[in-house]
Amino acid sequence: MSPSAEYLRFRLGERRPVMAMVLGSGLGSLVERVEAPLNVPFSEVPGFPASGVSGHAGKVIAGRLGGREVLFLSGRVHYYEKGDAAVMRPVIEALRDLGVRALFLTNSAGSVREDMPPGSVMIVEDHIAFSGMNPLIGEASDGRFVGMTAAYDPDLRERLSAAAGALGEPVSTGVYMWFSGPSFETPAEIRMARTLGADAVGMSTVPETILARFFGLRVVAASVITNLAAGMTGGELSHEETKTMAPMGGARLARLVERMLADGAFDG
Ligand code: HPA
Repeated sequence: MSPSAEYLRFRLGERRPVMAMVLGSGLGSLVERVEAPLNVPFSEVPGFPASGVSGHAGKVIAGRLGGREVLFLSGRVHYYEKGDAAVMRPVIEALRDLGVRALFLTNSAGSVREDMPPGSVMIVEDHIAFSGMNPLIGEASDGRFVGMTAAYDPDLRERLSAAAGALGEPVSTGVYMWFSGPSFETPAEIRMARTLGADAVGMSTVPETILARFFGLRVVAASVITNLAAGMTGGELSHEETKTMAPMGGARLARLVERMLADGAFDG
């Protein structure tokens, strides 16, 4: 077991989380309904990375949601912070060591589709790693040749979609395209993204999905749309807008996740 996992096991005591969830920018509200939360700052966990992005707190929150034990990771560290696509590797490896079998990745994203406006929730069905980076570069084992045909677990996607149906919440499904950031895309890049089959664009999630598949975790991911992508409206994009708009979709996503947990989607 990694030192990070050993430390977390000690802090978690008897808690045995069934699922871990990475919270995207401005999606901290996902933990509002968590019962008996225990906060562990990343800085206290040996080997965990430090994040400096505003709107990303950098802590592990353990608690109960939908009657299940869950671990929330608030404050993911992005590729653009250090140019290291594998920056979240110690975190995801620790989850595996702790016995967590599913990873729920969330992000804020720009929509490439007029019919998917800000406030929408998009279930990620597939991705395009447009940054050209890969967190497994340098990994020596044959495990590095990870199959990505069903990277976003079809059963968990179906269950997320079913939770949305049961709650009467409209959700979209689409392809997430990973740009390195931190600058936003240009309008020409967004036209390219649309042509290449993207529905949403963002600066995270893809490296974590690759790492999670490498470590054998099931992955489900959802984007909260905070804006129409560059060039689709008259205005300029900003991180302020991301942080302001994220809570709207975040609150809807929170209900879906709680329902999924209560329905037992992550049991067994
Ligand atoms: N592009 C990239 N990342 C984002 C965007 C966007 O338009 N909105 C929120 N995160």
